Amino acid sequence: MSDSIKHKIAELSHKIEEHNYNYYVLSNPVISDFEFDKLLIELIDLETNYPQYLKSDSPSQRVGGQVSKEFKNVKHKYPMLSLGNTYNEEDLRDFDERIKKAGLTKFEYVCELKYDGVSISLTYVDGKLTQAVTRGDGEKGDDVTANVKTIRSIPLRLRGENYPREFEIRGEIFMPKSEFIRINEEMRNQLIEDGYDEDEIAEKLLKNPRNAASGTLKQLDSKAVAERRLDCYLYSLLGENLPVESHYESLQDAGKWGLKVSADMEKVSSIEGVIKYLEKWDKKRHTLNVETDGVVIKVNSFEHQTYLGFTAKSPRWAIAYKFKAARVSTILESISYQVGRTGAITPVANLKPVQLAGTTVKRASLHNADIVEKLDVRVGDTVFVEKGGEIIPKIIGVDEKKRGHDLFSESSKPTNYITHCPECNTKLIRNEGEANHYCPNELGCPPQVKGKMEHFVSRKAMNIDSLGAETIAQLYDAGLLHSIADIYELKKYDLLKIDRMAEKSANNLLAGIDASKGVPFERVLFAIGIRHIGETTAKKLAYYFKNIDSLKNATLEQLLEVGDIGERSAQTIIDYFADNRIGKILEKLKKAGLQFELSEEQLTNTSEKLKDISFVVSGVFSKFSRDELKKTIEQNGGKNVSAISGKTNYLLAGENMGPEKLKKAEKLGVPIISEDDFIKMVST
Ligand code: IVH
Repeated sequence: MSDSIKHKIAELSHKIEEHNYNYYVLSNPVISDFEFDKLLIELIDLETNYPQYLKSDSPSQRVGGQVSKEFKNVKHKYPMLSLGNTYNEEDLRDFDERIKKAGLTKFEYVCELKYDGVSISLTYVDGKLTQAVTRGDGEKGDDVTANVKTIRSIPLRLRGENYPREFEIRGEIFMPKSEFIRINEEMRNQLIEDGYDEDEIAEKLLKNPRNAASGTLKQLDSKAVAERRLDCYLYSLLGENLPVESHYESLQDAGKWGLKVSADMEKVSSIEGVIKYLEKWDKKRHTLNVETDGVVIKVNSFEHQTYLGFTAKSPRWAIAYKFKAARVSTILESISYQVGRTGAITPVANLKPVQLAGTTVKRASLHNADIVEKLDVRVGDTVFVEKGGEIIPKIIGVDEKKRGHDLFSESSKPTNYITHCPECNTKLIRNEGEANHYCPNELGCPPQVKGKMEHFVSRKAMNIDSLGAETIAQLYDAGLLHSIADIYELKKYDLLKIDRMAEKSANNLLAGIDASKGVPFERVLFAIGIRHIGETTAKKLAYYFKNIDSLKNATLEQLLEVGDIGERSAQTIIDYFADNRIGKILEKLKKAGLQFELSEEQLTNTSEKLKDISFVVSGVFSKFSRDELKKTIEQNGGKNVSAISGKTNYLLAGENMGPEKLKKAEKLGVPIISEDDFIKMVST
């Protein structure tokens, strides 16, 4: 019996790794994701029941799980060197000359793309991945094996039999561009839900794929690494008595052992061939799903490599050529200033439209006054626009030679940064230590007021979905809405004055407004839009203080006692309630009948049973509605989260749940419980 289980586990492991190889190395999947997941679940089930057969190279290990306190620092068997850089054709020809002068006459080059990620050294012993170490200082690096095992394109076990008993292979771990975009989109949505403003969001998002790859690989929790799908190209085989004589051949062999080698490398017979390769990839590289920042040129034969040797820092037989970042020049037609929902001012460069790395660029952010001053950009200037690893184009400088010669700038003057809000003409302020100017007219500046209203009616707040951004703008412009409190004073005859507002939509809107009076206190608290107070914090405050008056009278110390409230948030709460105008708005809202305290039911039904336990609730349930279940979770101190991550404690699954969520939970090892399991959990 147990022998057959052992056999079954081995067979399943092998099958799954074959599919991983087809999918991630060959990019040629032969079964559906669903079938793949079924195999993986079957394997995980068996391994859970028979842990004695769980092997360190089982594909189930790719979902992560190991959490380290710190990484072990280990010495590289062969130091990890870097490469000399060149930036133009001439430098490359010099490199070629140096090799010839050293005495080589007939030799080949291998051209490879230079992938922009983090370098890694993998050790395989008897066909198994035993260690993965980062470059570190070149002599010693961090042992990140558990993290690297989550990368699906890196085989845990090699294919075939003809590999050396022990060898190292080095390469570049990177985050695919598509993955970078996916993660940032998800993060942005979550941050918006949590009440962050645009500036704070920009700060928190991943900056570029290279940073993201490096940050991910340094995570101590390997599950968090598994969630971000990193990838890896291998480009250098090292070991004693390798069965090959050249670099190119060695990588071809590595490919046969299941290791992922780029298909974009080429063997050429002279420097002319190298230059052709550069020209081809200078443009074509933008079509790849991986960032590249240059080309690496290597002398092919190992014998030639040994002959040429090393300098102190880098090999004499290889060199890097760096692509010029995609850059164009165009004219700065004007600078406009945007006022965000929170009053933050962003200067924006309006450019004469120009093509750059495959897209038309018309605008670029100038970030803040310091940047404008540092660049000394002036309207009419010819400016250089660059697209680096970052997705948004950047103005990197001014073509000073052209100043005074073109249409606008004959008498160009330095840009004077605005001193007053372009929307409401209030004098701008700049807090010490902050880069941005702010318009302090929170309650009177149109984009800020409209922004506050949009937030107030949004789904997670008062949920008045019949009142969209466009209607808010119309009502605001018509002078019918000045603050969120006015929403409850809208009359039907007012609404009918608005363009395209018919009787039916007016009724609808009024009904929506009326229904919002039943929205519970914690959401009202979120809706009123206290700076830095997101959905979760609002909930905590509501349950802690129970009504708006005790919150309003709370001291800094009391506020700090609430979990997760820091000095900054505590102070914004105090400042918020200290404002008389806010007091008036809140009074009006109270009169209108909004909930400013926890209901009887909320007050009586609380426990700490699920304290700090997080749930994703998904699907259709038979005994309770999804909202009731979510409420129960909160009332018992638990947390509802919308997306499954490695940190989620349970997936509470009903009927007809999305297959993606189920898959993700299974992959990440998040326990899946039913409605009945949950009821048991809270009632015992
Ligand atoms: S070969 C002796 N090949 O660029 C150095 N490096 O400065 C051997 N890189 O640290 C490196 N793509 O992280 C090589 N196809 C490629 C590469 C590559 C990216 C990175 C690598 C290395 C750095 C060189």
